[in-house]
Amino acid sequence: MPTVSDFIKAIQKKSALHDNLGDIRDGEIRRNLRKMPLSHSGTFAVVFQTQVGPERWALRCFLQPSPDLQQRYQLLREHLHTHACPFFVNFDLHVPGLLVNEVWEPLMTMEWLEGQQLHDHVEGIVGDRDALLQLSADWISMFDRLRVAGLAHGDIHHQNVLVANGRLRLVDYDAVWTSSLSDNVPKEGGQPNYQHPRPRRYGPHMDHFPSWLVYYSLLALSVDPSLWDRFDGGDQTLLFRREDFLDPDGSRLLQAMRDSSSPLLNLIDADIRAFLLRDPDTVRPLSRASVMAAGLPLPPQPSIWWASSPTEQEWLRRSNRVPRAGNSWISRRTQ
Ligand SMILES: Nc1ncnc2c1ncn2[C@@H]1O[C@H](COP(=O)(O)OP(=O)(O)O)[C@@H](O)[C@H]1O
Ligand SMILES: [Mg+2]
Repeated sequence: MPTVSDFIKAIQKKSALHDNLGDIRDGEIRRNLRKMPLSHSGTFAVVFQTQVGPERWALRCFLQPSPDLQQRYQLLREHLHTHACPFFVNFDLHVPGLLVNEVWEPLMTMEWLEGQQLHDHVEGIVGDRDALLQLSADWISMFDRLRVAGLAHGDIHHQNVLVANGRLRLVDYDAVWTSSLSDNVPKEGGQPNYQHPRPRRYGPHMDHFPSWLVYYSLLALSVDPSLWDRFDGGDQTLLFRREDFLDPDGSRLLQAMRDSSSPLLNLIDADIRAFLLRDPDTVRPLSRASVMAAGLPLPPQPSIWWASSPTEQEWLRRSNRVPRAGNSWISRRTQ
C-alpha cells in the first residue's frame, strides 16, 4: 500500500487525478507554510483539502487495503438515500481515483466541513456549563436520530466528530453499520479509548458504549470543569481512557468521581463500572428516554438545526433522483 508521503506526492499532480473526478481535478490543494499539501491523517486514511472556485472538498485516500470498499460505500450510499441523516456528509467514491506509484488507488471526495474536532470544541467550552449541556443534548439526539435511520457509526471518537457551524457532523465511515452492511464486517475495532474492553460485535449497538462515554464526559465537565486539566482532557480522548476500563479499581478518574461530593459524578462512576461488567452489545443505547430512566437530569431541548439542514435537503433531493443506467453514484473502473 502507498504511504502518506506517496499520497502527498501524488495529490500534487493534476494528471494523477482520474478524469472521473470532473471539476475537482482543477482544484487547488490547500498547502501549509512550507508549501506542502496540508494533510489530516488518522490510522486508515489521509485527507487533503482542495478548493474548486468557492467550493471546498475533502480528498480522502485509503492507507489500508479493503477488498469490499466499493461495495461497502455503495451500500452505505443507498441506505443514506432512503434514510436521510444530517450528520453524514455527501461523498463519492472514485475507483479509479488517484494514480500513486503507477497504480490507480480509490479516492473518496466529500464535502469539506469547516469545523473543529470534538475535543478542540470541548476545550473551548469547558468552563461554559450551558454550552456543555446543550452539546450533550444535541449529542443524545444525534444517536436517537441515527438509530431511527438504522445507522451505527462504528468508530465514535473525538476526531471523527466535527462541530461545524455549531452542528455535530460525522466523518470516517469505514466502520459504519446498516442492516445492508451486516456481512461487510470492517477490520477496524474502533479507537481504544472509546471501546469497551471486551470485544464488540459489528452491529447496531456498536455506538452504545462510546456514546455514553462522551455524554458522561460532557456531563462530568459541566459539574466539575477542573477534571479537564487534572486528567489531560483532550489528549487522545475527551476524558476516559482504555486504562480506566481495563482497571476501574485503579482508575484515578473514576476514583475522583466516586469521592466527589457531587451525586451526579458518583452516579457516572457507578454507571460506567456497571457498563464494564456487561457485554458491550448489551450496554443500553443512549437516548433521552434512557438518560431519564437512569435518574440523570433532564437534558435541555436539542438544537433543531437539522430541520432546515441543506445537507438533509440535498440527501432528500438525491434520494428522489432516478439513477441513470451506467452512471451509478460510484465511478466504475474504466479499464
Ligand atoms: N469531510 C471532511 N471535512 C473536514 N475534515 C475532514 C473531513 N473528513 C476527514 N476530515 C479530517 O481528517 C481527519 C482524518 O480523516 P478520517 O476520515 O477520520 O481518517 P482515518 O480513517 O484515518 O481516521 C478527521 O479526523 C478530520 O479531522
Ligand atoms: Mg478517523
